[in-house]
Amino acid sequence: MKGIVLAGGNGSRLRPITRVVSKQLLPVYDKPLIYYPLSALMLAGIREILIISKPADLPLFRRLLGDGSHLGVSFDYAEQPEPKGLADAFRIGADFIGADPVALVLGDNIFYGQGFPDVLQCERKRVDGVTLFGYGVADPRRYGVGELGADGELLSLQEKPEHPRSNQAITGLYMYSNDVVELAYELEPSARGELEITDLNRRYLGQGRARLSPLGRGFAWLDAGTHDSLVEANQFVQVLEQRQGVRMACLEEIALRMGHIDADTCYALGIVQEDSDYGRYVVEAARRFAERPLATIVEA
Ligand code: DAU
Repeated sequence: MKGIVLAGGNGSRLRPITRVVSKQLLPVYDKPLIYYPLSALMLAGIREILIISKPADLPLFRRLLGDGSHLGVSFDYAEQPEPKGLADAFRIGADFIGADPVALVLGDNIFYGQGFPDVLQCERKRVDGVTLFGYGVADPRRYGVGELGADGELLSLQEKPEHPRSNQAITGLYMYSNDVVELAYELEPSARGELEITDLNRRYLGQGRARLSPLGRGFAWLDAGTHDSLVEANQFVQVLEQRQGVRMACLEEIALRMGHIDADTCYALGIVQEDSDYGRYVVEAARRFAERPLATIVEA
């Protein structure tokens, strides 16, 4: 399975912060926002990842993340000149996707929870059509919403509905079979001029090939699209990391635990940034792993 991080858009709800800086490069406590969605793809075991952003911002993402080889993965980059909708990612990424299934994650989505890697890796293997990840929220009107039947089957999908049929928000992580590219090319822009992911997902629903996997109460799902949600995300990560002494979305540690790099490489990646707590954590992660190499990932 290939992976795409969609990290474009105008960040208009975060103006003026995003006038000259891409939203997905803003800090969430100790690392840039894009680290969090990237970590979700890496924890799913995906190693070929396309990062899509605005032409002006793409060089900054490239400077931050490089070609991924230091993490034992591969990062490619593609431009989205205008925000034409989430489903545009599959048109832009058509060549990159090739004949593979693909996961899309929105560049401002943060996931955290015990057992998340297992959930991802399990769903990745069984995807046929689309697999969506649901999350119970207090105000579903702000999101895509999925309605589940008595047996957990997906009955309907709504986009930012006035009258939500459930409290299950559709999170910004989607797994698709390869025919998503074909379906994305068939889509017409909506009234607001965008290729809507919910329209795409409804096609799969019509074919009986859409599944919703609810993330339970033990998970945290945050997006960082507004001033308040950005502050909340910062606070969440700070509290969790300081309390537990672990780092969320530490790409070097994930690469190590997934077996993409060895402890020496991880150590070297930490040393070059050891002036920061983050860098020192990477060094420590390498040391711990060298002592206990069979440790597995239990936190996302
Ligand atoms: O976060 C989950 C929600 O994401 C889902 O529940 C909704 O169903 C889905 O439509 C989407 O809603 P948003 O209102 O958050 O979508 P937004 O247009 O803000 O785009 C989400 C992110 O994707 C944002 O960080 C900017 C980026 N983006 C957006 C568009 C439309 C792009 O990179 N390119 C685009 O063309």
